[in-house]
Amino acid sequence: MKLLLLGAPGSGKGTLSEYLISKHNFAHVSTGNIFRKVIDENLEYADELKSYILKGLLVPNDLTNKIVKQELGELTKKYTNIVMDGYPRTIEQAEFLKNIFTIDKVIYLNVDSDLLVKRLTGRRMCNKCKKIYNIYFSPPKKDGVCDNDGELLFQRKDDDLSIIQERIQTYNQTTFLLIDYYKDKGNLIEVDGALSTEELHEKINSILR
Ligand code: AP5
Repeated sequence: MKLLLLGAPGSGKGTLSEYLISKHNFAHVSTGNIFRKVIDENLEYADELKSYILKGLLVPNDLTNKIVKQELGELTKKYTNIVMDGYPRTIEQAEFLKNIFTIDKVIYLNVDSDLLVKRLTGRRMCNKCKKIYNIYFSPPKKDGVCDNDGELLFQRKDDDLSIIQERIQTYNQTTFLLIDYYKDKGNLIEVDGALSTEELHEKINSILR
């Protein structure tokens, strides 16, 4: 099964991906994670990526497509279940993807913008195992420390309120258009992204059946 998760920043794409990876053996393609790794390790394009991400803007299509093509080439040889998280975000990216990869279902996580801001300002992550927490909704047992490995949790640099607002605006102006794009193709399933984690998992399991 090839799944695409579509939704605003903070709609729960990464959290749902964690579930698909651990319970349904999905391989995960997250352009956000790939870009952050390039920046953290100061690899080629790190400065260019930072200049877009820290302004809440989209990375140019050419660079994004090139990176995704490389990543997918390797994963499709090894995995039958693949979840795309945060890609495509423009019609141009969707058209590019269409030529190299066939999506079975698009899950659109619909979440109200006030809740998005609360989720993003409250998000904390583990640097080591990448587990996602939320100080309001799903805090770690010990403040600031990962339950899995005891590492200190960190807050993403783009989870600053002013950058969050830019990211939501970028989503509303550009990525939102993909909802109609995939509706027209007939494979979009809208899911209430404000459901509790358990309810959301049930819903996803029924979609995967
Ligand atoms: P990216 O890393 O993809 O960020 P994003 O799309 O802004 O999405 P987030 O990761 O912020 O949110 P999410 O939906 O994964 O939510 P999460 O599950 O963590 O991209 C970062 C940047 O890279 C972009 O701004 C752009 O610059 C660039 N970029 C990336 N892809 C690109 C592309 N294709 N083209 C161009 N540029 C690109 O959840 C958020 C919080 O809510 C967490 O704390 C979580 O615990 C909580 N939560 C989640 N679900 C629930 C629930 N059901 N109930 C209660 N709490 C929940």
